[in-house]
Amino acid sequence: MTAVSRAPGSLDDVARGPGLRLEDLVDRDALQEVCRSFFALFGIAVRIYSQDGALVADAVQDQPVCKYLQGLRDARAACGATVAGVKGADPGEAGEATHPCFTGAVYRIIGIDYDGRRLGRVIVGPFLPADLKEMPRSLLAIDASIDPSKARELLVKMPRVRSETVLRIGRHLQSVLDLILFSGHRALLTSHMHLASVKESYRQLQEQNEKLTQSYERLRELDRLKSNFLATVSHELRTPLTSILGYSEMLTEGIGGELQPEQREFIATIREKGEQLLGLIKSLLDQSKLESGTLAFKMTSVAIEEVLDQVGSTLLPAAVKKGVAFEIEVEKRLPTIRGDADRLRQVFLNLAENALKFTPRGGSVRLVAHADTSTSEPEDDVGYVLFAQRPAAVIVRVEDTGIGIPEGESARIFDAFYQVDGSSTREHGGAGLGLSIVKRLVEMHGGTIAVEPNRDPPRPVADRQGRRMPGTVFTVRIPLG
Ligand SMILES: Nc1ncnc2c1ncn2[C@@H]1O[C@H](COP(=O)(O)OP(=O)(O)O)[C@@H](O)[C@H]1O
Ligand SMILES: [Mg+2]
Repeated sequence: MTAVSRAPGSLDDVARGPGLRLEDLVDRDALQEVCRSFFALFGIAVRIYSQDGALVADAVQDQPVCKYLQGLRDARAACGATVAGVKGADPGEAGEATHPCFTGAVYRIIGIDYDGRRLGRVIVGPFLPADLKEMPRSLLAIDASIDPSKARELLVKMPRVRSETVLRIGRHLQSVLDLILFSGHRALLTSHMHLASVKESYRQLQEQNEKLTQSYERLRELDRLKSNFLATVSHELRTPLTSILGYSEMLTEGIGGELQPEQREFIATIREKGEQLLGLIKSLLDQSKLESGTLAFKMTSVAIEEVLDQVGSTLLPAAVKKGVAFEIEVEKRLPTIRGDADRLRQVFLNLAENALKFTPRGGSVRLVAHADTSTSEPEDDVGYVLFAQRPAAVIVRVEDTGIGIPEGESARIFDAFYQVDGSSTREHGGAGLGLSIVKRLVEMHGGTIAVEPNRDPPRPVADRQGRRMPGTVFTVRIPLG
């Protein structure tokens, strides 16, 4: 992980860098505890300063003599100077120094070193050296108003310490601090290592996210290009095809002269295939318009019965030819719905075409329409038994007794270009666009479409092995709004 060692605030900086500070390494509470227990043991004040002079922890109690001197003007000034001197004193290379006070007391200054670097210092004192016998002259000389006997009486209350003891106390403090610093440093390293690895994971995640966003954008762009391409190509194909169909129609009608029966047959085939091609091109155009959201709707009041009758008259010849029974059943006084009549015809024509296509000779296709009152509320609390409920939707079922749709496929058949038998050798024609367009058109009317097997057909059909064909029912529900 090269990125870790290069990142700012990295392990290298923590381990060796110039920025290592006492405050970052140690727990202040631990230092405070050291000061407190030291004070409890020896009764001597102790203060810990960081290298830049900030007080980090202390345990102090003003000495009676200091308190007394603080109340006298000149002595107070001298006290201030001593304290400033102690704070500024440098323990030097040796790591230990002593700073005197005019009272004869002393302060011991001990450097806090870690890993060859000075991080701060400990100031121990004031205390009286054990070998101080007499009150020094310097104390009385500081201020004319000092009462010598009072000063002496108070001075002896200050703790007395022998010089070897001072040395031992210093060493003891140093080793305790060393331990605290070591464990602090270890904790700091661990937390930095953790932080660095979290940072690295975050960076990797961001990188992957970026890549994903890029591929998503690229796919969207491709999708847009595909839709544009579909729209352009379909449009360009439609113009010449219209001419081909127009001319073959003229030929059939004998406008170009009398035709031989064989010629008539060929031209009929040209027309039939041409119509098929036109249907396909129209589907492609619809698909691209639906994808780009540019399909225009003409909403009017639509009678479903008329729509289904038109579908019936379009498909009846083909049904008769194939030997499939074709029935339409519409409930009486079915309410009209708001919708685009042409688009609704397209929906049911597509579904009925599929039903016919996937149902063998001897089978049947039924278009059944009725009102749905299931979710409507009664008009008011009184008398709803007397009045019929207001229907909430119109339901159209397209039922067939054909090959059926395997259970796992019922969601995917609504995807564009998806066909259950996707092989190039498949029996039935089509591009797999019909249902994807149907679903979107239904949804644009605020409706839903569902598919299930035809469980209870009036005239079931058996396949070659004698098994009953499952059949299919598409149920379209369009709300009255
Ligand atoms: N009534 C049906 N019976 C059996 N399978 C059907 C029926 N309707 C649709 N399917 C399946 O759904 C697929 C997709 O239908 P559709 O989108 O209309 O495409 P296409 O008719 O061009 O194949 C069909 O290829 C077929 O596998
Ligand atoms: Mg179809």
